[in-house]
Amino acid sequence: MKMNSFFNYLETLHRDYADVADGAVASYIPELLKADPAWLGIAVVTVDGHVYQVGDSQQEFTIQSISKIITYGMALEDNGTEDVLKKVDVEPSGEAFNSISLEPGTGRPRNPMINAGAIATVSLLAEATPAARLKRMLDVYKRYLGHEVAIDDSVYQSEKETGHRNRAIGYMLRNYEIIEKETDEVLDLYFKQCSILVNCRDLALIGATLANNGVNPITGVRALKGQFVPHVLGVMGSCGMYDYSGAWIYNVGMPAKSGVGGGVVAVLPGQLGIAVFSPRLDDRGNSFRGVEICKRISKDFGLHLFYSSQTTISTVLHSRYDTSTVRSKRNRNQEQTRLLSELGKQVKVFKLAGDLMFTGFRKTVWNF
Ligand code: DON
Repeated sequence: MKMNSFFNYLETLHRDYADVADGAVASYIPELLKADPAWLGIAVVTVDGHVYQVGDSQQEFTIQSISKIITYGMALEDNGTEDVLKKVDVEPSGEAFNSISLEPGTGRPRNPMINAGAIATVSLLAEATPAARLKRMLDVYKRYLGHEVAIDDSVYQSEKETGHRNRAIGYMLRNYEIIEKETDEVLDLYFKQCSILVNCRDLALIGATLANNGVNPITGVRALKGQFVPHVLGVMGSCGMYDYSGAWIYNVGMPAKSGVGGGVVAVLPGQLGIAVFSPRLDDRGNSFRGVEICKRISKDFGLHLFYSSQTTISTVLHSRYDTSTVRSKRNRNQEQTRLLSELGKQVKVFKLAGDLMFTGFRKTVWNF
């Protein structure tokens, strides 16, 4: 690959996929059909705050199912993992996003990325009133994105008018007491969260914030407590691309989430967020070009999480000694010198440069 800049690379990528016309714009929510099928935006944001964007990266669209990762993080912050797990499991369902995948007997949804789990997750937000829950949600988006967000009212109305299946799921959850709040209020907030407007850059920034342990790398504002980031990324990794999740992690190797608005966001922890916006969807409801472009970027830069190109042990440890053998030039009296010879072996000095991973730590500190 001969490119003189990453921006250049993205422009070439955009050109390569501009004419790919597979898939179809979502039609089950009539308002979504208004999207231009040709739109294609790509954005990458790094954890040191660099933004690269090409094509229709400023075009607004509704976040749809990608909202599920934000709300899941909020529910974890409000309740802790244990209580959230009592209501929503974290097993891939291997089924479509709108499947009614509930655990036999308990009614617990399989995971928070399918609609059933996402609706249950909305019900776990701690605020006492629907208005307060919405306000907090919009504030959390502001933390992730660094700007206010709006709800697309016509998409919201369209979601609500056509959302009979989601209502059926909501009432099933209420029946099993998975949802303990007013079901219609929970569903209303779910329809609203799906209708939040974002652009491709925003999505990449959400990815970069998760990659950066929950802190927006441009504003420095924390959007999600660091302790919950691995759990959000965990469900994205196992369930984020619905019934394509297994093949996705196999091929692309990054936690990700898609939405029927055409957005896909992928996260490389500690490094970057990638987003693609292209409204034509494949049969599973994932953006067709979104999937293909993420596959390409992952392959071109070796971003698969389970691909390890480096061993850190030898590079991290520069030298290791104790103070019985190496002395400073300081003058010490007889007693101090004697003590140093006697006890100096207990003072270990490690000269390190770079990241000390588990293996490096084992080698340097535990010395086996
Ligand atoms: O039908 C719904 O529940 C949507 N508004 C959200 C679904 C979605 O984005 C599924 N994603 N691929």
